[in-house]
Amino acid sequence: MITLKLATSLDGRIATAGGESRWITGEAARAAVHRLRAEHDAVLVGIETALADDPELTVRLPGYAGPQPARVVLDSRQRLSPDGRLAKTAREIPTYVVATTAPDPALVEAGVRVLTVPAVGEDRPELKTVVEALAGEGLARIFVEGGGQVAASFIRCGLVDALEWFRAPILIGGEGRPGIGALAVAALAEAPHFRRIEVREVGDDLWERYARG
Ligand SMILES: NC(=O)c1ccc[n+]([C@@H]2O[C@H](COP(=O)([O-])OP(=O)(O)OC[C@H]3O[C@@H](n4cnc5c(N)ncnc54)[C@H](OP(=O)(O)O)[C@@H]3O)[C@@H](O)[C@H]2O)c1
Repeated sequence: MITLKLATSLDGRIATAGGESRWITGEAARAAVHRLRAEHDAVLVGIETALADDPELTVRLPGYAGPQPARVVLDSRQRLSPDGRLAKTAREIPTYVVATTAPDPALVEAGVRVLTVPAVGEDRPELKTVVEALAGEGLARIFVEGGGQVAASFIRCGLVDALEWFRAPILIGGEGRPGIGALAVAALAEAPHFRRIEVREVGDDLWERYARG
């Protein structure tokens, strides 16, 4: 079960050209994201998001005492900093780096679990193998939180079962970073299709929920 979450402007951007993304959506939408995290076994991001935002990727809700989802970073070359928030809390919350190279001793020392999987294309981990490797670790419900390149890879591989799309009433414009990177769609008939199942207002934002079409 793979859920892709996006928090975008009306025109589908997740950050300005300079990489500023905090916060596009409002507090109510962010609280909904935390509730969604709590329903998954792992939260997954690409290394560019981990480096740009130094996120915790934890469930932070008043009174929440349930388990924390594991954190997973797709990071072929293990660029994750051992001094960042994810590595520093890796001993308390399971934290995985999915790489195509042998485990980096500095990350292993910090308590990060490095999964080495075969590379495809630009020497990146093959996503179907990644999903299988995570399932082998007991992580079956994956919450993908971006960025745009990772979102596009999951969609291109046909692995996204549900979309949770939070849309803020702002426009960033074409130079902003796209919520979904290149999909190589040559004809509309080939465009990945989703079925809208619900639309909710959350504060000033809209929360659109889609299932695979
Ligand atoms: N508004 C939001 O909700 C939100 C959410 C997330 C991110 N963001 C913003 O988005 C920006 C980062 O997004 P991004 O698109 O540049 O980067 P990204 O998707 O976070 O990370 C891309 C990197 O992940 C690695 N990777 C490993 N396996 C991959 C695969 N199968 N497919 C794609 N990438 C793979 C690649 O680096 P290697 O080749 O080195 O492995 C690639 O360069 C930041 O500015 C961040 O703040 C916003």
